[in-house]
Amino acid sequence: MNENASEAAGIAVIGGTGMNQWPGLQIDERRAVDTPYGPPSAPLLRGRINGATAWFLARHGEGHKLPPHAINYRANLWALREVGVRSVIAIAAVGGIADWFAPGEVAIPDDVLDYTWGREHTYADGRDGSPLQHVEFTQPYTPSLAARLHAAAAAAGVVIAGAGVMAVTQGPRLETAAEIRRLRHDGADMVGMTGMPEAVLARELGMHYGCLAVSVNWAAGVKGVGDIHAEIEQSVQTGMAKVHAVLAALLAA
Ligand code: HPA
Repeated sequence: MNENASEAAGIAVIGGTGMNQWPGLQIDERRAVDTPYGPPSAPLLRGRINGATAWFLARHGEGHKLPPHAINYRANLWALREVGVRSVIAIAAVGGIADWFAPGEVAIPDDVLDYTWGREHTYADGRDGSPLQHVEFTQPYTPSLAARLHAAAAAAGVVIAGAGVMAVTQGPRLETAAEIRRLRHDGADMVGMTGMPEAVLARELGMHYGCLAVSVNWAAGVKGVGDIHAEIEQSVQTGMAKVHAVLAALLAA
């Protein structure tokens, strides 16, 4: 699936931990949308940034109350497609597993390992006559959208630490050190809790999906035992400031 400029006209950012709002966005409209799956996490916000129109959705809800496993991912993606969004940029706070992905750094992941369970993870669930669909998912992130994110980062002067594999765990608890050793052994470079089923639902709806991942802590046990929450508090602002700069450059392009 290839993402080109005309297809990218409808861009949405789904913001998570550390980006429950999009500071650069001048909001023109709050749209409450309903879907066959229920309401999304929050009203969709339409606004302008650098002369371009974009949408914003707070993944965890307006008060940042929804835990990762309780987010209605199907409603979120459906609602965005309803308003004309064709390209979704997911902002994800993650734990760094790879040595190159220190807290405060930003990565653009290029693959996924899914450890979540019990989430409504498909529109092709066999209910209400929905057709059986085995979507192609070899490359969960749209490569051309990833390339645009890399170009925007370069334009903004933001160093991207790497690409890499995103592991998605169930949460809401953080992982044990042994679990992180297993994820590393499986090939994961970073770990978050919301990347799935978000990515595959976007694919099922034919939307392009890209991700800016911010390392906000070293994953459990990677650098010994520390206070992960203190680490998150220290690095989230630094990382999200870089994300805001990349998004501003992307929309200006
Ligand atoms: N693990 C899972 N999800 C996360 C982490 C983590 O260490 N940090 C931020 N989101």
